[in-house]
Amino acid sequence: MKTDFDFLSLCRLRRSVRRFSPEPLRPGELAWILECARLAPSACNLQPWQVVIVDDRDTIRDLSSCAAFGLSKTAAPGSIAFIADAPVVLALCLKRGLAHKVSSLVDMDFSCLDLGIFGEHVVLAAASLGIGSCWIGMASERRVRPVLGLPRSVRLLALIALGRPPSGSLASLESPPRRRMDAAEFCWHNRYGVPWNPPPAER
Ligand SMILES: Cc1cc2nc3c(=O)[nH]c(=O)nc-3n(C[C@H](O)[C@H](O)[C@H](O)COP(=O)(O)O)c2cc1C
Repeated sequence: MKTDFDFLSLCRLRRSVRRFSPEPLRPGELAWILECARLAPSACNLQPWQVVIVDDRDTIRDLSSCAAFGLSKTAAPGSIAFIADAPVVLALCLKRGLAHKVSSLVDMDFSCLDLGIFGEHVVLAAASLGIGSCWIGMASERRVRPVLGLPRSVRLLALIALGRPPSGSLASLESPPRRRMDAAEFCWHNRYGVPWNPPPAER
């Protein structure tokens, strides 16, 4: 599929969308998004992801009541209720039992990182088609498991809701983009704590 964005414009355009038009994704769009995600890198190329694609309205409604209560003092119960209107929700799951293949080389488990990269391919690919998305980390794995029939061999890491915003366009979202730190607040030059003074980035 042809998209109109250079990469910086795409990164600026993407932001979390929490209101969706019920319009289903167009034919081929989801397959294209998942093809972009399938190409994501992973440690030792283990590709530890499993994805449940949910477009059944009742199942999405059930997922929308699977908030993980108590994770945040400010999150009211049901804070993921907004996903009920999304035409598609992806459940990103991690295949258990692969991490030892990497940790036999280095004592680290990169699998969450791998899933994060995969999911970010999803949301950027979606944005390039004008499709909004929101990562949902605050879904309760215990509650989601029976809804999706997840076997013990996988863990739920996150949901991603996908759909067009009610206005139809990501560019016309009412909410302004959320503030990000300037590079000077988190980049250091050659040694931690030494300021990095780059030329101004193209705006
Ligand atoms: C791993 C992850 C988990 C998140 N979980 C939730 C969530 O449970 N509910 C929600 O409304 N937003 C969630 N978000 C969205 C963030 O709040 C959002 O990305 C952040 O505030 C920056 O805003 P932006 O995406 O609009 O740029 C999550 C984002 C990430 C990357």
